[in-house]
Amino acid sequence: KKRIVIFASGRGSNAEAIHEACENGTVNGEVVGVICDHAGAQVLERARRWNVPSTVIELKSFENKAAFNDALLEAAVSYKPDLICLAGYMRICGENLIHAFPNRIINIHPALLPSFRGLHAQRQAIEAGVKVAGCTVHFVGTGLDDGPIITQTAVPVYDDDTEDTLSARILEQEHPSYVRAVAAYCRDELTIEGHHVSGMHGHH
Ligand code: GAR
Repeated sequence: KKRIVIFASGRGSNAEAIHEACENGTVNGEVVGVICDHAGAQVLERARRWNVPSTVIELKSFENKAAFNDALLEAAVSYKPDLICLAGYMRICGENLIHAFPNRIINIHPALLPSFRGLHAQRQAIEAGVKVAGCTVHFVGTGLDDGPIITQTAVPVYDDDTEDTLSARILEQEHPSYVRAVAAYCRDELTIEGHHVSGMHGHH
């Protein structure tokens, strides 16, 4: 089984979907830790319910961003992950983490990248007047919401949609989409430019 660490900032519904898929055998993996940048986030209650250890690392506890990023890396390394899943993690990953886990960090973004990077992607889609929106699961690169795309799912945007109704329609697709991507990763099926990205690196 692949060791999966989840980075999350809030509600944790994508984290829940990944954990559930590990429990029911859809994903050949195990959630071994949750790293969260907000004490009090709902995802921490979920981790307690799963009996999965969690680490809270808040920016305000550190002198500067570099020290914060060092702490995040140290926490991640301590869980010995094969895969890091960003699931509603509302920060840009430090380069230290990306270099420590090349091709082993994936993210879900609530837009059809490369459109609508950054915060409030669903609101950006409404404001742009697009008729198709969706979600993207991708490998994490060093830029904001970039890196090789693994899978995308499209949903329609209706004339009377609000940010909330569109977000809900996208979220419904996020969970199965993220689970499919993680399952494929754990079967060593994912490739970047033709090269398999997992399997040969595993230190377990
Ligand atoms: C999800 O819609 C996720 O795609 C989005 O935040 C939400 C988290 O929900 N992520 C981003 O916007 C990343 N830039 P969750 O905590 O219930 O999974």
